[in-house]
Amino acid sequence: MSDAENQSRPDGLATLGVHGAESGDRQPGRPVVSPIVQSATFHWAKPEDGELLYSRYGNNPNQLEVGRKIAALEGTEAAIALGSGMAATAMVFLALTEAGDHILASSQLYGATRALLLDELPRRGIETTFVDPDTDQGWQKALRPETRIIHIELPTNPTLRFFDPRPIAQLAKQEGITLTCDTTFSSPVNFRPYNLGIDVVIHSATKYLGGHSDLIAGAVAGSKEVVSEVMRMSCLYGPALDPHAAWLLDRGLRTLEVRMTRHNENALLLATWLSQQTGIEAVIYPGLPSHPDHVMASELMVGWGGMVSIVLEGGGVTADRFMDKLQLATAAPSLGGVETLVSQPRYTSHSGLTTAERDAWGIPDGFVRISVGIETIDDLITDFAQALKASRV
Ligand SMILES: Cc1ncc(COP(=O)(O)O)c(C=O)c1O
Repeated sequence: MSDAENQSRPDGLATLGVHGAESGDRQPGRPVVSPIVQSATFHWAKPEDGELLYSRYGNNPNQLEVGRKIAALEGTEAAIALGSGMAATAMVFLALTEAGDHILASSQLYGATRALLLDELPRRGIETTFVDPDTDQGWQKALRPETRIIHIELPTNPTLRFFDPRPIAQLAKQEGITLTCDTTFSSPVNFRPYNLGIDVVIHSATKYLGGHSDLIAGAVAGSKEVVSEVMRMSCLYGPALDPHAAWLLDRGLRTLEVRMTRHNENALLLATWLSQQTGIEAVIYPGLPSHPDHVMASELMVGWGGMVSIVLEGGGVTADRFMDKLQLATAAPSLGGVETLVSQPRYTSHSGLTTAERDAWGIPDGFVRISVGIETIDDLITDFAQALKASRV
């Protein structure tokens, strides 16, 4: 690429979210918004006929366009959007391992990812050792000659821990192991891990990337080599993203940067307000100085994110009552949409753990996870204030 072309190449995240890395052709009559190509297959007779072939292969125009945009946002060579966040995670694990291999994973993971590693992959001859990400030497000690992947989540769901990935990246590089990271909770606006030595970035695009709680999707970003192997797995296992969902995801990405900015602002304001209220044992938010990873998150994250967790005095009974009393915030298990959602991990993402296991992870009964939306903050505070008052023991 010439110097002049290089200089004019956009690299602001808001710009990339709207346009992707390419400026597109400028012919009169070209639609400003790409149409949905709701076609399972394309006229194609022989290899010279091009890359558009069959939508399960991941080469529908909407799938390709959104993949290129996600790669631009993450700063990776390539990316692919798939049918769900779990499809993305599962295809990465299957692409990078075979029977007899071993995975090292953070002990603090989304419940279904943990179940996939713990209950499902062993049936395919792939074992996982879970490591407490807080221990310095834990990763090194658990390494085996057959370790192929180290998998982490940043920030973690739902305790919002943000540990330093750089020593893990160094270890992975030294040992020739692929480091994969689920950054669903941060989005590339708040944290782009690829330039910190993380090889593969995974998202539940159902959350912030889509941003409107109206689609289920996942994404994998990394080198061309890894992404094409993930695409091969997707062709075989079949979790391709439907063209309409790919189009919706692309539309969500157009406003990702402005939404995240508002999520970040609202979450900090709500967390600060919550930390001044009675009836709450703990407010967990990386932007608060009381958070154990406040310094690390401040160094590596651009914004502290839209997720806030609280532990209510009075345990599960109070939490049930509190959820019941909310009038604006909605009880629902997902996150990352424009509307504020609340959930209790003991009923949802971490229902597979025992109470004692949840306690050990810092998720006692009374723990409520809040996905702070983009509503007017005063309205949110009014709603939380009345629900806290009405649910107090
Ligand atoms: C951190 C994280 N990763 C992955 C997933 C799975 O995503 P999906 O529901 O899109 O399959 C979730 C879902 O909540 C999640 O929170």
